[in-house]
Amino acid sequence: MEVIIKADYDEMSREAAKIVASLVRRKPNCVLGLATGSTPIGLYKELIRMYKEEGLDFSKVITFNLDEYIGLPRTHDQSYHYFMHDNLFNHINLSPQNVHVPDGMAEDPEAHCEWYEEQIDEAGGIDLQVLGIGGDGHIAFNEPGSSLASRTRMKTLTQETINDNSRFFEKIEDVPRYALTMGVGTIMEARICLLLCNGSKKAATIKKAIEGPVTAMVTASVLQTHPRAIFVLDEAAASQLELKDYYKWVYNNKPE
Ligand code: F6R
Repeated sequence: MEVIIKADYDEMSREAAKIVASLVRRKPNCVLGLATGSTPIGLYKELIRMYKEEGLDFSKVITFNLDEYIGLPRTHDQSYHYFMHDNLFNHINLSPQNVHVPDGMAEDPEAHCEWYEEQIDEAGGIDLQVLGIGGDGHIAFNEPGSSLASRTRMKTLTQETINDNSRFFEKIEDVPRYALTMGVGTIMEARICLLLCNGSKKAATIKKAIEGPVTAMVTASVLQTHPRAIFVLDEAAASQLELKDYYKWVYNNKPE
């Protein structure tokens, strides 16, 4: 586990973008797993800047998104399909056929989830998975109690997640109750997991994920068992970490 602590949201986003960009340069046809939500918006902005100003080339990159609400068409401004196009895909040179977001309107969600897993396999597996973390410790929509071996499937959202996400909808009743989500097992197969977290509101949650016991009650905690999990945090999110100074020391003394 590598824990990188940056001063604020912008620095956190730039650090994460550096990690993603270095993979894209090293392996131009890499497979990126992507997340939605407020957290990675700064990372996506920085990747767009790198594309425009530094020529970072996404033409061969393949992407898979973590999740999608059930019942929202792609054109809905709160669908994750819409979010990704609005915040990243429309602004870089990704090929549309290389983009994968679960289809929340799939007639047979179970078959669609199986197909989604097959597409990931056919692409050679995910090289780097970008993750956020929910207030209840979830990664993707793997809410507390999700099997740590779970695969892509339909999940019911917790009340906490519905409340958290209601900020994007006109009224709380509009927040979908169900989602399609990669499973914890699916995420754990990514070669690198890159989790971003900012803000004091999530300080207690990120402490549980990084320094608490590995438990299905905080699905992000399973990343402690991943061979290459990188957490990029801002100071506020890191404020409750017991080994905060040690993480900083390790980062500052990293061999070239
Ligand atoms: C989104 C996702 C979720 C979010 C999490 C944090 O694709 O998988 O797990 O990463 O709910 O959301 P924000 O970043 O909005 O706090």
